[in-house]
Amino acid sequence: MDIKGKKAVVFGGTSGIGLATTKLLAQAGANVVAISRDPSKAGELPAGVSTRACDVRDSAAMEALLAELGPFDILVSAATGGDRAVGPFVEMDIDGFKGSFDKLWGYANVVRFGAAHLNEGGSITLVSGSPARAHPRDLSALSAVGGAVEALVKTVAREIAPQRRINVVSPGVIDTPMMTLEGKAEREAAYADMTKGYLIPRAGTADEVARGLMFVITNDFVTGTIVDVDGGWLLSD
Ligand SMILES: NC(=O)c1ccc[n+]([C@@H]2O[C@H](COP(=O)([O-])OP(=O)(O)OC[C@H]3O[C@@H](n4cnc5c(N)ncnc54)[C@H](OP(=O)(O)O)[C@@H]3O)[C@@H](O)[C@H]2O)c1
Repeated sequence: MDIKGKKAVVFGGTSGIGLATTKLLAQAGANVVAISRDPSKAGELPAGVSTRACDVRDSAAMEALLAELGPFDILVSAATGGDRAVGPFVEMDIDGFKGSFDKLWGYANVVRFGAAHLNEGGSITLVSGSPARAHPRDLSALSAVGGAVEALVKTVAREIAPQRRINVVSPGVIDTPMMTLEGKAEREAAYADMTKGYLIPRAGTADEVARGLMFVITNDFVTGTIVDVDGGWLLSD
């Protein structure tokens, strides 16, 4: 797909990976609507980008917003949705575990209410995460949610082909505001520790992940695919 002049809708497009994707899409000539609960956090945005406020978990609001914004050619969601529960599964607060699935319910709203307004030749791209297939200790919630996102994408790919495509990009450890680490020194130490066994032992950037999204958005022969942008986490010791 040639992005120039196309309309893109990016949920979670005001921070981190979604914001980086919004900027790359705008740079390639798309008109982009970036959406989150508080879009003011995006700061200054390039020409061609507008913002809207919406909570991806609010099904009625999502149905109305996507109907209003349609038709569009590019639909992306990188919205985290809610909190993430970490720790050993058997000791975990079950409400925290269940709450981690807000990401899946948000993505489900994006796909359910967005697909109907996606032009032929258009694509949907969601963001999972390496825990989906790395299955690290203490990250059972992220692993289960990410696995569900990837299974959803592969199933929907069959259902919307050949007119429309859907893919998922799976980031490893990425330096974004999602990582609640204070101060440069603390961030660097935490990332060095988290990535020490990785083939590329550092945190990735939001821009590096956004370039993975741009690949699946622009390549018309790619659907039902998972693109890992993870510094080799899946092959780490
Ligand atoms: N960073 C990493 O290391 C990493 C690793 C693996 C996977 N991921 C995944 O990558 C995706 C993007 O993460 P990120 O690191 O870019 O996070 P981020 O910088 O915190 O950005 C998350 C975005 O989602 C929006 N959002 C969150 N909950 C929302 C809701 N309920 N409704 C609407 N918008 C909502 C946020 O804006 P508001 O707060 O204004 O709503 C923000 O724009 C997520 O799915 C995350 O799980 C990240």
